[in-house]
Amino acid sequence: MATALDLDEVRGSFPALAGKQVYLDNAGGSQTLGTVAERIQDYLLNTNVQLGATYAAAKQSTSRYDEGYAAAATYIGASSDEIVLGSSTTQLFRNVSYALRFQAGDELIVSAVDHEANIAPWVDLAERQKLVLKWWKPNADAPDAGTNPKLLASDLVGLLTEKTRLVSFTHASNILGTIHDVKAITSIVHSRNPKTMVCVDGVAYAPHRKIDVKDLGVDFYSYSWYKVYGPHISILYASPLALSNLASLGHFFNPHATLQDKLGLAGASYELVHAIPAVAEYLDGKWEGIVAHEGQLQRTLLAWLNARADVTVWGERSADVAVRVPTVSFTLNGWDSKRFVEAVEAESDFGFRWGSFYSVRLVKDVLGLPAEGVIRVSMVHYNTVEEVKRLIAAMEKVLAPK
Ligand SMILES: Cc1ncc(COP(=O)(O)O)c(C=O)c1O
Repeated sequence: MATALDLDEVRGSFPALAGKQVYLDNAGGSQTLGTVAERIQDYLLNTNVQLGATYAAAKQSTSRYDEGYAAAATYIGASSDEIVLGSSTTQLFRNVSYALRFQAGDELIVSAVDHEANIAPWVDLAERQKLVLKWWKPNADAPDAGTNPKLLASDLVGLLTEKTRLVSFTHASNILGTIHDVKAITSIVHSRNPKTMVCVDGVAYAPHRKIDVKDLGVDFYSYSWYKVYGPHISILYASPLALSNLASLGHFFNPHATLQDKLGLAGASYELVHAIPAVAEYLDGKWEGIVAHEGQLQRTLLAWLNARADVTVWGERSADVAVRVPTVSFTLNGWDSKRFVEAVEAESDFGFRWGSFYSVRLVKDVLGLPAEGVIRVSMVHYNTVEEVKRLIAAMEKVLAPK
């Protein structure tokens, strides 16, 4: 038995949850820990000076910043030299794309189901450096391929050549919730060519599971703390291979040794860096309980969705925690997604979403849906089964008259 979450303690840690709004748009951004807000305030009110100076307040701000960096690195099993913190995952992947130097004719493999943050930089890089861009698409012949598109390693293998320099894909889709086996895929890529780098978008996965970048074996990994109960700042890890392939975007007189030197561009707000240890501290010891509780949430919602003939679930219909996270998307026959969400919102305090959430290629080209996209209910561990049941009742009420 997993150590159960103490939901009173959990919910009490997030001041926003005391209000009426029920937060079911967590894949867009989670609520923030009270301790995170306190650390931001403390930094700004007590040590808001420039780093690196020798006077007392500056010494304190520098050590707070360094401790924040170290906590962020330790949290993912890396060292401070191997990470960079910056304003968003979108920005960090862009920075990588400007710092990588390849030969014309080298090849990149990009996933067709990702958020655009992990597609656009590589499409642009391929154009700028005259590289060959290949798309890793879900296998159309796989069972359930129409509604449950998955990236399979077996489809990737045929795309890999000795010229492949980078393979990029998502750990979990922000629409489908499906978990990809990053460790297995990375190992296949590296066994074909140890010089091929693997770049993984962990944004939709990180709120739900512990991450160990060394165990995954990846070369680049990024996610955003504002989806992991923290401040609006993001982290990027780079392996020694990846670091050696990056030119420095920093000023010429700065050192170019670490990832921060190369890609940081003064992009990490000091007060937000100082807040990161509060996230690590809060999540410590909770992961088993989080996975078990989120399993219950997704089981409750999927049981209702799977039982309805007018619902199409996009992604895994299974509630098994080994295959998905509780980001659940669906469409309803006879409803456009926007109209349905607005109808439920008009009668309730539930905050959930319709759309394509920057995964436009997935929603339009792979799922074949119109601009209103899917209805997405994205839960995290601070949601309750009772909230999900109340959402189901609110949805049933809207559906009843039709
Ligand atoms: C899966 C995924 N990747 C990348 C991003 C981009 O993250 P950021 O907003 O930090 O650029 C998001 C944001 O929604 C996302 O859901």
